[in-house]
Amino acid sequence: MQLPAPKSRLPGVGTTIFTVMSDAASAHGAVNLSQGFPEFDPPAELRELVTWHMAASHNQYAPMAGLPDLRALLSARAAASTGQQADPDTEITITAGATEALFCAIQALLHPGDEAVVLDPAYDSYAPVVTLAGARPRHVALAFDPESLEFSIDWVQLGAVMNDATRLVIVNFPHNPTGALLDADDLERLADLLEQYDSLLLSDEVYEHIVFDGRRHSSVMSNKRLWRRSLVVSSFGKSLHATGWKIGYCMAPGVLSQELRKIHQFTTFSVSTPMQHALAEYLARCPDFADNLSRFYENKRDHFLAALEGSRFRFTPARSTFFQLLDYSALSSKKDTELALEWTRSPGVASIPLSVFSEAAPAYRLLRFCFAKDKSTLVDAAHRLRAL
Ligand SMILES: Cc1ncc(COP(=O)(O)O)c(C=O)c1O
Repeated sequence: MQLPAPKSRLPGVGTTIFTVMSDAASAHGAVNLSQGFPEFDPPAELRELVTWHMAASHNQYAPMAGLPDLRALLSARAAASTGQQADPDTEITITAGATEALFCAIQALLHPGDEAVVLDPAYDSYAPVVTLAGARPRHVALAFDPESLEFSIDWVQLGAVMNDATRLVIVNFPHNPTGALLDADDLERLADLLEQYDSLLLSDEVYEHIVFDGRRHSSVMSNKRLWRRSLVVSSFGKSLHATGWKIGYCMAPGVLSQELRKIHQFTTFSVSTPMQHALAEYLARCPDFADNLSRFYENKRDHFLAALEGSRFRFTPARSTFFQLLDYSALSSKKDTELALEWTRSPGVASIPLSVFSEAAPAYRLLRFCFAKDKSTLVDAAHRLRAL
């Protein structure tokens, strides 16, 4: 007799939309602009360094917090770009992608009865991990301007949801899926609210190096009032076209890093040794590795949007990340989840419906398309979409 299903810790969670859409894309031979991964490799020099370090016997456990050289380089880079010094020994931890850092941070900080604010549309891991910690996710929709198709923090709603139980606010700027950014004034407003409720901040900045049209990313680390109560998470996956390597990191003041490390040491303990060596050597050799990343992706965005010229989609060019939202209200009044599947079958382009990132948000007529793809893939996708 089959064993009955165990009582689920996450009963509301099924297969993620990314798996659903990617499976549908391969079943129907669609161009897959759904899942957010680059269609190109990390730099050849970096790949060669991984091989070299494996051959050089760097194959056993790395230190729990990460390779000291890599942490020192990250500290220097953060200090140069934000003015904030993070101590590599006590304030920087290398993790298995940003995902592990987010998991450890949430598990380390939240207790049953606590509340954590999630700004919708939100990356899909935040709320389930808050629930796993026994805490309560409080969803606040970003303000959406249907004219400009732009999103921003809804300060009134955020202020209304925060209370004495708010232990953590989770933010992600540059923002997936909308491309929204924060500026220095936003950081000050955030600091006011966090101080008022004595809450902590978890800032997911994995798209820190992908910001367009001359704009700049304002890291939480650049604001002194925020830094003392923040954990700042990033990833080499997005910055080096290496999403499959799953190497990320978390910077946070000592008292917060110490708690994060307690969870990290029992989650993965440490992460890939040869890759950490390779990354450290690569960062030392090519300190300007991210300088052209924004331009690189801006060109891809522009190719995609130029190829869509003449279509019935409405859009505002993404401000950041490698995702473009397209408004389909002139084409259909169907739900985004239904249309994303329908259009994967014909004309054969897979995307992600915006509503899957949102619990609090209103019904949008928006789909998210990943443009971290070769030009020919983008032109093929746009050609198919123009036929609608
Ligand atoms: C906003 C955001 N945070 C975190 C991640 C996960 O990063 P990693 O692959 O380094 O775990 C992603 C990946 O798509 C993301 O978009």
